[in-house]
Amino acid sequence: KRLVILISGRGSNMEAIVKACAAEGWPASIAAVISNRPDAGGLQFAADRGIATAVVDHKAYASRDDFDAELARVIDGFSPDLVVLAGFMRILTPAFTARYERRLLNIHPSLLPAFTGLHTHERALAMGCKVAGATVHFVTAELDHGAIVMQGVVPVKPGDDAKALAARVLTAEHRIYPQSVRWFVEDALVWSGDTVQHRDGAP
Ligand code: GRF
Repeated sequence: KRLVILISGRGSNMEAIVKACAAEGWPASIAAVISNRPDAGGLQFAADRGIATAVVDHKAYASRDDFDAELARVIDGFSPDLVVLAGFMRILTPAFTARYERRLLNIHPSLLPAFTGLHTHERALAMGCKVAGATVHFVTAELDHGAIVMQGVVPVKPGDDAKALAARVLTAEHRIYPQSVRWFVEDALVWSGDTVQHRDGAP
């Protein structure tokens, strides 16, 4: 299986996936790491590992549609079986999400369906949540609402600020995202209607 990973920043989730793929010998290769930002730190990590990189700078396009069309063209040049959004901070058009239906994953730093959108840790703390976490899900036209593959839960601790909670959630992200991608590349995911689960019924 060929993976294309999209980033916008440091790419710590991309890094976790690249390392797990190599260390665990997945039936997969990282075909490319693509960013919408030329200054994304993760591009250097990928280049240092000999992984193809590309930049599609969203500032260079007049519309969201034009950007998404160019992004899809560049992605398809790498013939991916799966496109992985890893800290990719762009909202994608319905045409784009339809093009990659059931082969486009994202990780969101909350226990969906709670706290869709931005500033999830601040909002969880403001509500006095006792647990928090992250969700790996397939991407659909509706933001942060696609079929859930895996979730990771972490405790909220007294005195947590958003920075502390974000760091704890990030450790869960680095656990569940590689595992979720591995399930996909091993063809272990089974769909029933609009929901998906591991063929052995793993949680
Ligand atoms: C993470 O919190 C992730 O959940 C969100 O973007 C943040 C940065 O991710 N999507 P990364 O370090 O760039 O992978």
